[in-house]
Formats: sequence, structure tokens, C-alpha cells
Amino acid sequence: MMQCWWMVGSLIVFVSGSKIWDVPVSQTQSHATGKLHWEPACQYQLRHLQDGTRIIGVLPPRLEGHWVSTGCEVRPGPEFLTRFYTFYPNRLFKAHQFYYTDPHCRDPSYSLVIKGRLRLRQASWITRGATEAEHYLQKVGIVFHNEKTMKEIASQMNQSCPGFMPTTRAWVPGTLHEVLSAKAGRDCTAAMGFTMHELSLVRLERKYQQQESTVSEELFLGDIHTEKKEQMHYRPTGYQRPLQNAMHHLHPCPACGLIYQADEHHPPILPLVPELPLHLSGKWASIHCEARPAVLFLTRYFTFYGNNQTWEGYYQHYSDPLCNQPTFTIYASGHYTKGVSSSKVKGGTELEFKVTKAKVTPMDRATVLMLNSSDPGTCGENGSWAIGTEQDITQTNGCIVLGIQLPHTEYELFKIEQDVKDRTLLFIGERPTDGSSPDTPAKRPTSYQAPLVQCVGASGVFSTHVNQNHLAMTGNSGGTVLISLPLALLLLLTGFYVF
Ligand SMILES: *[C@@H]1O[C@H](CO)[C@@H](O)[C@H](O)[C@H]1NC(C)=O
Ligand SMILES: *[C@@H]1O[C@H](CO)[C@@H](O)[C@H](O)[C@H]1NC(C)=O
Ligand SMILES: *[C@@H]1O[C@H](CO)[C@@H](O)[C@H](O)[C@H]1NC(C)=O
Ligand SMILES: *[C@@H]1O[C@H](CO)[C@@H](O)[C@H](O)[C@H]1NC(C)=O
Repeated sequence: MMQCWWMVGSLIVFVSGSKIWDVPVSQTQSHATGKLHWEPACQYQLRHLQDGTRIIGVLPPRLEGHWVSTGCEVRPGPEFLTRFYTFYPNRLFKAHQFYYTDPHCRDPSYSLVIKGRLRLRQASWITRGATEAEHYLQKVGIVFHNEKTMKEIASQMNQSCPGFMPTTRAWVPGTLHEVLSAKAGRDCTAAMGFTMHELSLVRLERKYQQQESTVSEELFLGDIHTEKKEQMHYRPTGYQRPLQNAMHHLHPCPACGLIYQADEHHPPILPLVPELPLHLSGKWASIHCEARPAVLFLTRYFTFYGNNQTWEGYYQHYSDPLCNQPTFTIYASGHYTKGVSSSKVKGGTELEFKVTKAKVTPMDRATVLMLNSSDPGTCGENGSWAIGTEQDITQTNGCIVLGIQLPHTEYELFKIEQDVKDRTLLFIGERPTDGSSPDTPAKRPTSYQAPLVQCVGASGVFSTHVNQNHLAMTGNSGGTVLISLPLALLLLLTGFYVF
């Protein structure tokens, strides 16, 4: 079956310094992809997005303006938060982070106000399409919204950063407490486990919706390491869910306005959304090109069969941030357990996934060369790989060079949400940042990747209201479910060599 990969943009323009590169993308471009069969409804959804939207990666990124979360965000831990960042023309910034006790961001626990300077540096060599930046913190303040949080953080600070806490009459709710002051030479951020390393990696995307002639802008900032103890020194190579420009965002976005009006004394309380049961049956596809820490770009497409608890998925990998240049496709299938609701991550459901079968289709010469030269018996049939030809790697228990081992079990965290346009979104757990796989219960994720959208429901009918305007509410910290790839390989595939 001939297949058109969905391209998020029909025209990509990279503006780099004074040079403008036009990279036309043919709508009819097709690739021999082995046995990839898209459900027409899912295909329609993706084609529709591709036809109606033009995406520009703005380089260097122009950050001036107000940027807001489009919904309640979940960070590893879990931490539930919303963000409101302002960048001024003179390189100064002011960032608000509002933290909550619940997964709907309705019960505020504390707010941070962060002031500093940001200096953009060169394009990233690790994450294509991103710009590196350096930041300098001038002030960090905290305001508590409930007493329990106040006491918890106070006792944590008391031990690791004494002197931060005034001894008498301290910690009155509503008071702004200074956690960091560059002027006074005081810094208790480490004691709180707080960093702004997310500002080290920046990507700005501008999206044009042709039919509605609207423009929206998304700001991708660096990802947060999934291991708490690594967060203090981790330099991001992937992204968090993007912020949207408060002036140029997709409509409707009820959260955007609420967050834009908020401050540290009046944290935004997001609208109540019903919690949905985890009905996985049906087909689910990526909404746009996803970036994964350590240089991987991909789109995902899954089918879950509730009747016999089996699943199958396609992971299409690319070498570029707009998913135009395919490198290889992985097909995987297996079965999964009934979910139980997570006690650790409120609103999430825990499941176990087993991969029993996998197939690989190389899509470019570099991947074919690599697969051809893998040790005999470690990845499909010896030296017989060709571009566009699928091979089963089940008999060789996976593919060592791609980091795939079969059979393989993963401990997962899922959640389903309805968005403001009544689309059903599936959030799958974030991959461990160190590139390993969540193959023990202890490594089960506590945060999520960018959501997939349901394109065919359980009954087999096209279930979503397709609207090309709807690229909102998507994260961009995607990843490969169930498959992990060594960093060196990814660098190889994307044309970099690390010695
Ligand atoms: C902080 O430490 C001091 C001295 O150990 C103690 O008296 C005080 O109660 C502690 N405060 C909190 C909030 O834990
Ligand atoms: C599970 O059910 C689906 C849909 O009915 C079917 O296509 C698939 O072959 C079944 N898988 C197994 C392993 O029985
Ligand atoms: C692959 O190579 C190994 C080792 O040389 C050999 O034992 C095996 O039979 C070969 N397999 C095929 C399918 O040619
Ligand atoms: C991979 O191996 C096959 C079989 O030996 C060969 O036909 C093909 O040309 C090789 N591909 C590359 C890119 O070397």
C-alpha cells in the first residue's frame, strides 16, 4: 500500500540570521514503507492537519512577549503546575510557576516568581532546530497558598538552607518569601530542588492555519529529567509541553486567559474537567511531530483491542524536527493488563505492556548500512536489509543495534482526557530521560509524553471531530513507547558522530 507520511507543514521556512531557506515539501511525496496501513480516518486527520497548516521554526527565536500554559501540566514526581512567562526586549524575563496538589490544577499549593536574564546562544548541535541559551537568576520568590505545603517546604528548607527562614512569626500565607536574591548573595533554590535549566534549550514554532488565517506561536523549553536527583544538573535535550503566546494562541483556550490574568497572589484555577475512564479500544495517532530527549523525532500510531487486551503500534522515526525525513519505522505488538488507578500520580492509570513481536523498516541508506553491518543473528536476517523493506526481528529476539529486546515488559502510566474541542486524547507515560526503559515497577513514569488523539473509537467509527485549527494542547516531549535507543545510534542516524 502506498503511503504518504503526514507532514506537519506544507512549507517549512527556517529563518537563520539573514538567510532564508525555503524547503518545499511535496504533498504527494510517498515512501515505500513496508506494511504500514493507516486507517483512513487517522490518515484523514493527519493529512488534514498537514494540508491546512504551515509551520515555521523561527530561528533565532524571538521570545519577547507573554507565554502561557494551555492546560494543567504534569512534571516528573509528579508535580502539577501551570506557567506564565514574560520575556522583555532587554533580555530580562519574569516567570511565574503555579503549583497545585491536584491533576486538574484547581487546588493551588504555592507559586514561584522568578526574575532574571536570558541570553540566546548558538543553535544546538544535539537537538536539531533548538537554540541554546544561558540564564542568570536575579530573584526567586515563593508564596504559599496552603499551610500544609508551607510546613513541608519550611522544614525541608530549615534543614538544608538554614537562615532562609525567619525565626519568628514566619511563613504567613500570602507573604512573598525570597528564595534567591543575587544582590544579597543568598540562594536557597538548591534546597528546594528548584532550577530553571528549562531555559537552556529554546524552540519557537509559528503555525499558520490557512483556512482561518490565524497565526499561533508555541514556545518549547527544555525538558525536565525524569529522575529527581538528576534534575539539578541536567542539561535538556528534549522539550516540555509548549507554552503558547498569550496574543497568538489557538482558540478556544479557556486556560490561557485564566493564566494570563494570574499572579503569585492569585494563582489561576483551571476549569473543572471530568475524569474519563481509560477506554483504550480504538486507534490513536500523534498530533504532530514529537521530539524526544537525545535527538529523536517521531510520530506514533497505535491500535488497542479491548476485546483480547492486545495492541500494536508503529513508530516512525525522522532525522528532522518537522518529521519530513524518515529514517526507520518500528512495528511492535503484544498484550497488556487491565489498568489500576495510580496512587502515586492522581488521575493516572497503571498498566503493564508486553511486546512480543517487532518488525523494522529502514527508510534511509544510513539505517540500512547500520542494520546490514550488525552481528549475524542479532537483528533480522543476516545482511539483507534494504530501504523500504520490512523485516521481522522477532526470531532474533529483537535488534541489538536498535536497542530492542524481545520479549519485553514495560510498566506504564496512561490517562485519557477530553480537550476543549471534544477530541479524546491519550497521554502515555514519559520515557526515562536516561534512555533506559521502564522495565521495573520502580521505573514506572510519573509524567506524560505529548498526547495522541483518538482517530477511530471502540465501535470502529471515526470518532473525532476533526478540526485543523486544533493543534493546541499538545506537548512535544514525545518518545518511543516500549523501545529505547542508545544515544550513539541516534547521533549516527541524525548524521552526527560522537567519538
Ligand atoms: C527550624 O529549625 C529550628 C531549629 O532547629 C526549630 O526550632 C524550628 O521549629 C524549625 N522550623 C520548622 C518550620 O521546621
Ligand atoms: C485480538 O482482536 C483483534 C480484533 O478483534 C484481532 O484482529 C486480533 O487478531 C486479536 N489478537 C489476538 C492475538 O488474538
Ligand atoms: C546468519 O549468520 C549466522 C552466523 O554466521 C549463521 O549461523 C546463520 O545461519 C545465518 N542466518 C541466515 C538466515 O543466513
Ligand atoms: C545490504 O545487504 C544486502 C544483501 O547483502 C545488499 O543487497 C545491500 O546492497 C546492502 N545494502 C547496503 C546499503 O549496503
